[in-house]
Amino acid sequence: MLAVEGLVKRFGGFLAVNQVSFEVRAGEILGLIGPNGSGKSTTFNLIAGNLRPNSGSIRFNGKEIGGQSAHTICRQGIGRTFQIPRPFRRLSVIENVALAAYYGEAGRISRGQAQRRAAEVLDMVDLAVDPTASTAGLGAAALKKLELARALATGPKLLLADESLGGLDPAEMERAAHLLGDIRGRLGITIVWVEHIMGVLMRVVDRVIVLDHGEKIFEGRPAQAAADPRVIEVYLGKAQA
Ligand SMILES: Nc1ncnc2c1ncn2[C@@H]1O[C@H](COP(=O)(O)OP(=O)(O)OP(=O)(O)O)[C@@H](O)[C@H]1O
Ligand SMILES: [Mg+2]
Repeated sequence: MLAVEGLVKRFGGFLAVNQVSFEVRAGEILGLIGPNGSGKSTTFNLIAGNLRPNSGSIRFNGKEIGGQSAHTICRQGIGRTFQIPRPFRRLSVIENVALAAYYGEAGRISRGQAQRRAAEVLDMVDLAVDPTASTAGLGAAALKKLELARALATGPKLLLADESLGGLDPAEMERAAHLLGDIRGRLGITIVWVEHIMGVLMRVVDRVIVLDHGEKIFEGRPAQAAADPRVIEVYLGKAQA
């Protein structure tokens, strides 16, 4: 579904993403992990069109999308969440999600259709708050769910979830992880899930890719990752320190 080849992103002289290549297969949940600053969010920003690659290719269903604008990529079926949720604070919960539905359809749906889709995805992410309430009072877990609802409302075939469940307690983390699994099953979408802690992700994903200092250092099954000396050194070693 997605083929990333030789992706490079520099910020000045700093190589944030260095010759990264991987594929995402239709229907899978792929974990993209690595320590803080290893280039995970930057990789998402390159795929989703929030940043332009310096070089490399990104093909979605066979078509090159590298360097296209974010709205163009979204409307081809790639939805993404942001690591730091920034909802429109003056809009209600449901208005935030309905706006995402409009955005995904380039405004070609009615207000009623957008509201209905918003209500559906809010139900799916199990956000148990008054949909007409302001987003101001939402805690970390609820903001993550709202962020997921906004991404789903755009109608993605491929969801890039920059979760970083670090701000959540263990029970919330567990629920957030299983929610992604449920959503894949219910919507039949493909998911790439970014996380810097290994924990619960390893039990939910089909395959995992590990980044370190902008380079891919591992690709394979979660159980293999946990036993890989390089992964243990750069990743588990740090995480357990
Ligand atoms: N816009 C930017 N300008 C300059 N440097 C940046 C920019 N965005 C990211 N970086 C740097 O690129 C590196 C990779 O950042 P990135 O956000 O991709 O890491 P990450 O793997 O998502 O980390 P985390 O687990 O903390 O979210 C970091 O050193 C970061 O400081
Ligand atoms: Mg990040």
